[in-house]
Amino acid sequence: MTYTDKDNKFKRYCITTALPYANGPIHIGHMAGVYIPADIYARYLRMMGEDVIFIGGSDEHGVPVTIRAKKEGCTPQDIVDRYHGIIKKSFEEFGTSFDIYSRTTSKIHEETATEFFLKLYNEGKFIEQTTQQYYDEQEQTFLADRYITGTCPICGNERAYGDQCEACGSSLNATDLKNPKSALSGNTPVLKETKHWFLPLNDYEEYLKQWILEGHKEWKTNVYGQCKSWIDNGLQPRAVTRDLDWGIKVPVEGGEGKVLYVWFDAPIGYISNTKEFTPDWEKWWKDKDTKLVHFIGKDNIVFHCIVFPAMLKAEGSYILPENVPANEFLNLEGDKISTSRNWAVWLNEYLEDFPQKQDVLKYVLCANAPETKDNDFTWKDFQTRNNSELVAILGNFINRTIVLTHKYFVGKVPKINELNDLDNATIAEIATFPERIGRLVETYKFRDALFELMNLARLGNKYLTENEPWKTFKTDVARTETVLNISLQICANLAILAEPFIQFAAKKLQNMLNLKPMHWFEAGKADLLSVGQAINPAELLFEKIEDETIQKQLDKLEASKKQNAIANATVEPQKANCSFDDFAKMDIRLGTILEAEKVAKTKKLLKLTVDTGIDKRTIVSGIAEHYTPEQVIGKQVAVLVNLAPKELKGIQSQGMILMAENADGELSFMQPEKVFKNGSTIA
Ligand code: MF3
Ligand code: ZN
Repeated sequence: MTYTDKDNKFKRYCITTALPYANGPIHIGHMAGVYIPADIYARYLRMMGEDVIFIGGSDEHGVPVTIRAKKEGCTPQDIVDRYHGIIKKSFEEFGTSFDIYSRTTSKIHEETATEFFLKLYNEGKFIEQTTQQYYDEQEQTFLADRYITGTCPICGNERAYGDQCEACGSSLNATDLKNPKSALSGNTPVLKETKHWFLPLNDYEEYLKQWILEGHKEWKTNVYGQCKSWIDNGLQPRAVTRDLDWGIKVPVEGGEGKVLYVWFDAPIGYISNTKEFTPDWEKWWKDKDTKLVHFIGKDNIVFHCIVFPAMLKAEGSYILPENVPANEFLNLEGDKISTSRNWAVWLNEYLEDFPQKQDVLKYVLCANAPETKDNDFTWKDFQTRNNSELVAILGNFINRTIVLTHKYFVGKVPKINELNDLDNATIAEIATFPERIGRLVETYKFRDALFELMNLARLGNKYLTENEPWKTFKTDVARTETVLNISLQICANLAILAEPFIQFAAKKLQNMLNLKPMHWFEAGKADLLSVGQAINPAELLFEKIEDETIQKQLDKLEASKKQNAIANATVEPQKANCSFDDFAKMDIRLGTILEAEKVAKTKKLLKLTVDTGIDKRTIVSGIAEHYTPEQVIGKQVAVLVNLAPKELKGIQSQGMILMAENADGELSFMQPEKVFKNGSTIA
C-alpha cells in the first residue's frame, strides 16, 4: 500500500525506462531525464514493500546504428555489441537498480516481436499501402529518410536530412527535399514503389481520446498537452515496416528485404525483457492490478502515449500504462547536448574523472531535473550543490553528530532524559517526513522530494546549533545526552530516506550507524537507534570539490567546441554550381603590395597600393584586424583585378586581394609556389 493508493488498487508495479540507442554511450541528459527518476521511483516502492519489476535494455535496431557501422567500416552488430557493453557497465557502476537490462538483438525479443506482428497481421489489424520511396540504383537499395540529404525547403540549408533539418528544426519528408542525394553513393535517388504495413491509428483515435484526454487528466501537463495536440490534429496510419536489412525480418509473404520499424519493435522490448527475466511475465503485462509506468524523455511521448498503446490495444490482451511521466531536456552549459558534436558529459568519462562520486552526479541531476521545462547543467552549479548542499548541509550535520557521540559517549547512543518543547517539536517534525517525501515521489515530483530530504538535514543542523551540545557537556551532561540521541535519530532517518536518491551515501551511513535495512514506512520515529547501541567512527560522506577540478571539465568542453569549429569548417557546404564561362569572367593575377596604411576611423580596412603587372592601383582590403601595414608590404598575392570598382570610406577601390580563411576565421594570403612575375594570370 502506498500513500496515494490507500485502497491498494495496485498490487504490483511494472516500471520501464526508454531503451537507449546502442550507437553511443549515455550521458547526463539520459540520466536526468529518464534513469535517475525511474530508479528513485523503483527503489522507493521496494522500500514501501511493493512488488516491483524495473526494466531496462538497449535499443539496437534503427538507422543510426547502420550509419555508424558504415562510417566505421564494421557491422551493425559490432556497433551494438560495443555500446550495449559500455551502457550496461555505466548503469551498473551508477547502481541503477534494474531487475534486467537486456537488448533488442536477443533471440527472445526477435520471437516476441515477430509473434506480436503476426497476431496483428493475422487478425487484419494492419492495412497494406504501396507508396513511393527513394531508391539508390547504384547500391540497389531503398533509402531510409536519414540516408537522404538535400536542401531544406523551409530554410535553404543544403545539408538537411530526409527526416529533419537540423538547421531550422523542421521535420520533413524525404520527398520535400530539393536536390536530394543518396548518402550511400552521392547519386540522385529515384522514386520507386514499395509496399508496407501500416497501423491505422485513426481507428484508435476515439479510444485514445477517451482514455487520455478524459481518463488521464492527472498526467503531467507537458505530456497531456502533447497528446492533446496529436489527437486534435487527427491521427494517421503509421508504417510499421521499413525497407532495410538491419532489424527484425517482416515474417509474412511480401516481406522480403523488409524489417519491422524500430519504433514497432523497441517498445515490445519491454515485454521481451520481462519474459527473459521471469517465466511468470504475464502478471506484469496482462493483469489489471499491475500499474505500468513508462519513464521517457519528451521526444518519446507520441510513441509511448499514442502508438504503443494503440499497438497494445490492437493486440488485445495487454494493460495500458497508468502514467508516462516524461521529462523535458537537459542542456549543458547553455547548449543543446549533442552526441555528434561531442557536447555532453558521458557517464563513463564522468566516473573516470570523479571516481566514487556517483551520488554527487545523481544528486545534482535530480535537484536540477528538467521536470517541467528544459534545464541547464553547469559545472559551476555542480560544484556549488556539492560544496554548499551535500558537504555543508548533509555531510556536516552527520559528521558533527557522530564525532560528538564518540567524543562524549565512547561511540554509544546516549539515553534520552527530560524532553523540552523544542525536542518535542523536533520529534513531531521528524515524523512528517516519510509521508511528505513519499507522496512527492509517488506523484513523480522528484526534485521537490529531494529538497524535502535536505530539509530533514537542515532541521538537524538547526537543532544542533540551537542546543550547542559542545557547550552543555561541561554543565549539563543529561541535556547533552538527549540532544545527541535526537540528533542521531535524525541521522538514522536520513540513512533510510536518502536511499532512493543517493544510495551509496545512504548505505555508508547505515553502516556507520549499524542500522539494519528498513522499510520506508518504519522511518519517521525517534527510536530507530536504541540506547547503548554502538556506532562506528565517522567517515567522510562527501568532500569539497575544488575550482581546479571544475576548470578541467570546462577546459574539456572548450576543447570540444574548438574541435567542432574545425570540423564544421571542413564541411562548409559547397555552393551551387557555376559554369566554366562564369568562372572565366574573373581576371585573377599575381600582384605585389607596394604600400599599405590603415584607413582612418575604421578597424578593418587597409588602403593598399598594388603592382598588378598591368598598372599600379589602389585596393581597399578588410584585413586590418589580421595584418599590420608593415606585415603586408612587399608580399606577392593573388588579386581579382576586374572586380567592378567601388568607393569605400571615400577611397576608390579597384580590385580585391584573395585570401584563404580557416575555421577559426584566420586569414592567409594566396602565394605562388614558384617565382612568377606580377601580372601572371591565375585560372
Ligand atoms: N531508443 C529510443 C530513444 O533513444 C527510445 C526507445 S524507447 C522504446 O529515443 F520504447 F522504444 F523502447
Ligand atoms: Zn531548414
